[in-house]
Amino acid sequence: MKYYVAVLIGVATVIVPVFTQDLNEDAVNNCTLTGGSLNNLNSIQQRCTSITIQDLTVPAGQTLSLTALKAGSTVTFNGLIRFGYAEWTGDLIVVSGTNITIIGGSGHLFDCHGERWWDGLGANNGKLKPTLFQTNNLLYSNVRGLRIKNTPARCFAIQSSQHVVFSNIIIDNLDGNSNGGHNTDGFDLNENNDITIQYSQIVNQDDCFAINSGTNCYFYHNHCSGGHGISIGSVGDRRSNVVRNVHVRNCTVVNSENGIRIKTIANATGQVLDITYEDVTMQNITNYGIVVRGDYRNSGPTGHPTGGFSIKNLTLSNIQGWVQRTAINVMVLLAGGVASEWRWTRVNVTGSRFAHINNCTGVPPNSGVEC
Ligand SMILES: *[C@@H]1O[C@H](CO)[C@@H](O)[C@H](O)[C@H]1NC(C)=O
Ligand SMILES: *[C@@H]1O[C@H](CO)[C@@H](O)[C@H](O)[C@H]1NC(C)=O
Ligand SMILES: *[C@@H]1O[C@H](CO)[C@@H](O)[C@H](O)[C@H]1NC(C)=O
Ligand SMILES: *[C@@H]1O[C@H](CO)[C@@H](O)[C@H](O)[C@H]1NC(C)=O
Ligand SMILES: *[C@@H]1O[C@H](CO)[C@@H](O)[C@H](O)[C@H]1NC(C)=O
Ligand SMILES: *[C@@H]1O[C@H](CO)[C@@H](O)[C@H](O)[C@H]1NC(C)=O
Ligand SMILES: *[C@@H]1O[C@H](CO)[C@@H](O)[C@H](O)[C@H]1NC(C)=O
Ligand SMILES: *[C@@H]1O[C@H](CO)[C@@H](O)[C@H](O)[C@H]1NC(C)=O
Repeated sequence: MKYYVAVLIGVATVIVPVFTQDLNEDAVNNCTLTGGSLNNLNSIQQRCTSITIQDLTVPAGQTLSLTALKAGSTVTFNGLIRFGYAEWTGDLIVVSGTNITIIGGSGHLFDCHGERWWDGLGANNGKLKPTLFQTNNLLYSNVRGLRIKNTPARCFAIQSSQHVVFSNIIIDNLDGNSNGGHNTDGFDLNENNDITIQYSQIVNQDDCFAINSGTNCYFYHNHCSGGHGISIGSVGDRRSNVVRNVHVRNCTVVNSENGIRIKTIANATGQVLDITYEDVTMQNITNYGIVVRGDYRNSGPTGHPTGGFSIKNLTLSNIQGWVQRTAINVMVLLAGGVASEWRWTRVNVTGSRFAHINNCTGVPPNSGVEC
C-alpha cells in the first residue's frame, strides 16, 4: 500500500509516498495487487478504479473476488496469474459490476496448471475441481485479450450477466488431451441477456460454447478445437429452460466430437427459439457433424426423444466440412411436433460411411434438412 504523510520541510509541507510490500498505489485510483495474498483486495476495489493484478498467486481454496468493483473500473492482468492447489468446486475468479473492463496485458498468462486436478473424471466425479472464471451480474462490460492455459475444469461460467462482450480470449487446454482433462468447457452460459463472444480460440475437452438458457447471444469469429462443438444445451431441468435468439457466425470447429449440437433433456420441458448458425466450417469430427436430439441425459442419450420442447426457427446457412468415416454427417432425433420453422440452406457436411442411412426423425417438412 502507498499512502501519504505530510512532512514539514522548513515552512513547506511536502507529500511523501510510503510503500508497503504487496500493494502499490500510484495515484489514489490506480492500484496494483501482486504477490500471494488477497488481504488488500477489498480495500483496493473500494478505493481504486484502475486496478492492475500483477504476478499474483491466488492462495489455495480462495477466490479472487472482483465483486466489489466500482462502476467503470478497469482491471488489467499482467505477468503470471497462478492458483494454489485445493480440491474444491468454488470459483478461482469471480467478477461482478457495471461498466467493467477486464484486460489481459501483454505477456500475461493465467497459468492454471490444471494437470494437478485432471484425473479423466471431469467436473462431476473424482477430485473436486474449481471453475476458473465466473461472471455473476456483470453488466455493460468488456473482457478482452485474456490468455488462459490448462484450466482444472470449466473455463468461463457466465451467469446472470447482461450486455457483456468477450473478445480475443485464448483458452489453451491442449495438454488435457493426453493428461486426463475433461469437462473443460470453454464458455458456459446460464440466464444471461446480450452476451457476445468473438475472435477467440478455444482448445479443450468439452463444449467450446454451451448455452443452457438465456436470450440474445452472439458467437462470432471463433475457432474451436478438440472439444464437443458449438452447443445449445443441454436444455431442461434447470431453473430457466428457455434459449432465445442465438447467432453463431463465421466459426470453425476442428478435431472435435461434434460440429453443431442442440440437445434437450429427455422428459424435461423448455424452448429453443430463433437460432441461427451461419458460415460455420468443420473438420475431422468424430461423432456428429450436426446433431439435434431430444433424448439427452448426462449419463448418455436414451435413444427415445420426448415432447415437451419447442425447437422453433432454426436456421442453418452455409455449413461446410467433413466428419470422420465412422461419424455421422447429420442426425436429428426429435419427437413429433417439437421442431417447426426450420430453414437449412447450403448445408454440406460429408465424410460419413453412413451417409446413405436416413438419420433424421422429427424434421419439419420443407425445411431443407438432408440426413
Ligand atoms: C497504473 O499503474 C500501472 C503500474 O504502475 C501502470 O502500468 C498503468 O499505466 C497505470 N494506469 C493508469 C491509468 O494510470
Ligand atoms: C455506464 O456507462 C454509461 C456510458 O458511459 C453511463 O451512461 C452509465 O451511467 C454508466 N453506469 C454506471 C452505473 O456507472
Ligand atoms: C472470420 O473469423 C476470422 C477469425 O477466426 C477472422 O479473421 C475473419 O476476419 C472473419 N471473417 C469475417 C468475414 O468476419
Ligand atoms: C421418461 O418418462 C417415461 C414415462 O413416465 C418413463 O417411462 C421413462 O423412463 C422416462 N425416461 C427418463 C430418461 O427419465
Ligand atoms: C428467427 O431467428 C432469427 C435469429 O436467429 C431472427 O433474426 C429472426 O427474426 C427469426 N425469425 C422469425 C420469423 O421469428
Ligand atoms: C483427426 O483426428 C484424429 C483424432 O480423432 C487425429 O488422430 C488425426 O490426426 C486428425 N486428422 C487431421 C487431418 O487433423
Ligand atoms: C460438398 O463438399 C464436398 C467436399 O467437402 C464437395 O466435394 C462437394 O462438391 C460439396 N457439394 C456441394 C453441393 O457444394
Ligand atoms: C443413425 O445411423 C447410425 C449408423 O447406421 C445408427 O447406428 C443409428 O441408430 C442411426 N440413428 C438414428 C436416430 O436413426
